[in-house]
Amino acid sequence: MNLTIDGKTVPVIDETTVLEVAQREGIWIPTFCHHPGLPPYGACRLCVVEVKAGGRPGLAASCTLPVVNGLVIETNSPRVRRSRRILLQLLLAVAPGSAVVKELAEKMGVNTTPFEINEQENNCALCGLCVRVCNQVGAHAIGFAFRGTRRKVTPPFDKPTADCVGCRACASVCPTGDVQFTQKGDRLFGENWGADLSLARCSSCGRLFTADRLFDHVRTRLGPDYSEEKICPTCRRRITAKTMAGVYQYK
Ligand code: SF4
Ligand code: FES
Repeated sequence: MNLTIDGKTVPVIDETTVLEVAQREGIWIPTFCHHPGLPPYGACRLCVVEVKAGGRPGLAASCTLPVVNGLVIETNSPRVRRSRRILLQLLLAVAPGSAVVKELAEKMGVNTTPFEINEQENNCALCGLCVRVCNQVGAHAIGFAFRGTRRKVTPPFDKPTADCVGCRACASVCPTGDVQFTQKGDRLFGENWGADLSLARCSSCGRLFTADRLFDHVRTRLGPDYSEEKICPTCRRRITAKTMAGVYQYK
């Protein structure tokens, strides 16, 4: 199977989307709501490319566009650039304080926005990655709420969550760095979601290292046969190394 991208015909190896082929070929396509660890979603449309032949002609989000034999794609046509500029103007209005959005917009020659500025005070660009990863983890602690300039990601009823398990996956995928967790004493606070979690102590070294609720969550997910001692990664490595060396001493 072959694909023609920016005038170059390339073989499709094991990629399933046009974005994956472009990335392998070193062709830059901006993305915002895409994460390689999550199923493609196609929310932000920043990754648009133009289908010239071999498929339905027009603009399409490359992160969800399946590769088919004979597809002819342009990643930087005037139509593509125009569409991306409008989307970046929208992102500038949604997340006016985000350095990541500003940098991306500047790269595309966009410095101002004609759209109404979002009322939220944070830097959330509403990409939805945090919501998707939270669902994938199985916590379902957050979602989208409200409309227009009040739209935001928040726990149900815009109230502090009791469902966050403290995995911090939302913070690790957020492209704007807007999701914050802070540790105070033996508590972990998910600032954006109003989460307040107790931290577990390592049963070997006594250090606080992760949220208690995360253990319960993993147990629930893996079933009653799963029993895992609360041991921090450092001690786990040390204990495993000793076990493998045949000098296991648990303390
Ligand atoms: S908090 Fe971050 S990951 Fe979540 S929607 Fe906003 S920008 Fe995306
Ligand atoms: S990165 Fe493809 S739609 Fe957002």
